[in-house]
Amino acid sequence: MASGRRPCVLGVETSCDETGLALYCGERGLLAHTLHSQTDMHAQWGGVVPELASREHLYRLIPLTAQCLREAGLTLGAVDAVAYTAGPGLAGALLTGCGFAQALAYALGLPAVAVHHLEAHLLAPLLEDAPPAFPFLALLVSGGHTQLVAVDGLGRYRILGESLDDAAGEAFDKTAKLLGLGYPGGPQIQAAAARGRPGRYRFPRPMLDRPGLDFSFSGLKTAVLTCVRAEPDLAATLDDIALAFEEAVVETLMTKTLRALEETGCERLVVAGGVSANRRLRASLLGLATSHGVQVSFPRLAFCTDNGAMVALAGYHRLLAGEQTGPGFTVRPRWPLDTLAPPSNAVPVGDVEVPDR
Ligand code: KG4
Ligand code: ZN
Repeated sequence: MASGRRPCVLGVETSCDETGLALYCGERGLLAHTLHSQTDMHAQWGGVVPELASREHLYRLIPLTAQCLREAGLTLGAVDAVAYTAGPGLAGALLTGCGFAQALAYALGLPAVAVHHLEAHLLAPLLEDAPPAFPFLALLVSGGHTQLVAVDGLGRYRILGESLDDAAGEAFDKTAKLLGLGYPGGPQIQAAAARGRPGRYRFPRPMLDRPGLDFSFSGLKTAVLTCVRAEPDLAATLDDIALAFEEAVVETLMTKTLRALEETGCERLVVAGGVSANRRLRASLLGLATSHGVQVSFPRLAFCTDNGAMVALAGYHRLLAGEQTGPGFTVRPRWPLDTLAPPSNAVPVGDVEVPDR
């Protein structure tokens, strides 16, 4: 018998080196989330080792699910659907999450929902108080992607500009490596930059002199390399170089974002993906938004980088819109965001009810 209760979705994230689980419930929002980051394990190799990542996901999925349920004070009987990241990401890592989620859904007789990782990042600010309404402009800055996206609604995405080479996060990671800092590079560069002396170095702001909304970060990394090679005492200047690099990335992202806001006339800006955790970027975009009368939304720090909460939320919205994914272990390591479609038999949010069990 239908009770008017909205579904409770278990979200599973395994696209790269974070195993994330979460329970999102329409009635009460996010109930619990658990995460295991593999960064310490991969740090010794200087980057993610795909095979090790897949194995570690396998070890972690069941204990993290149990912990998540425990923290929510629920059992598997309370779960109405299982959502999982189906791409883009590392094939083996995606398969572990997909296999786990599909098997769990099958065993419990529940629907499974395949989630696009970038859609999940885009929707992450909706987990916060005062969530942004559609339409909005999104700056998506992660380890694999740097995109400016016009978001008109669920599944309605137009890519206005993107990186032609390295993603912003990738630039942070590669630059950290050549500075001899650890993995992942973003937090390491941020920490070094905080100690840096302003004005000692200046790196190019790539593609700012050209029209359009595309980015390019590989030249910036090369500029840092040239500077490092010419530096007789790197230890004494490393923090200054990190600061100049961070300033160049942030100014480039800011300028293109402002250009996109002006071109689209959008009054709401969402910033998501791992690099949106960067303090300088957050402060700069906040300042820009305030001075231009734009509402800016970020996920909380824990939900900037990969996590299960954003997957549970994206799965919840897809499920409400009538979507389910049939059984099978299909993942899409490459999956462009703008090939997503709005849900076909969309029903207004809140109209889907699940029976009491
Ligand atoms: O979204 P994410 O967790 O994974 C992908 O979907 O790629 O993003 C990871 C990226 C890494 O490149 C990492 O260096 C970067 O986000 N990152 C940061 C910061 N925290 C994470 N970049 C700059 N500043 C940070 N504080
Ligand atoms: Zn991500």
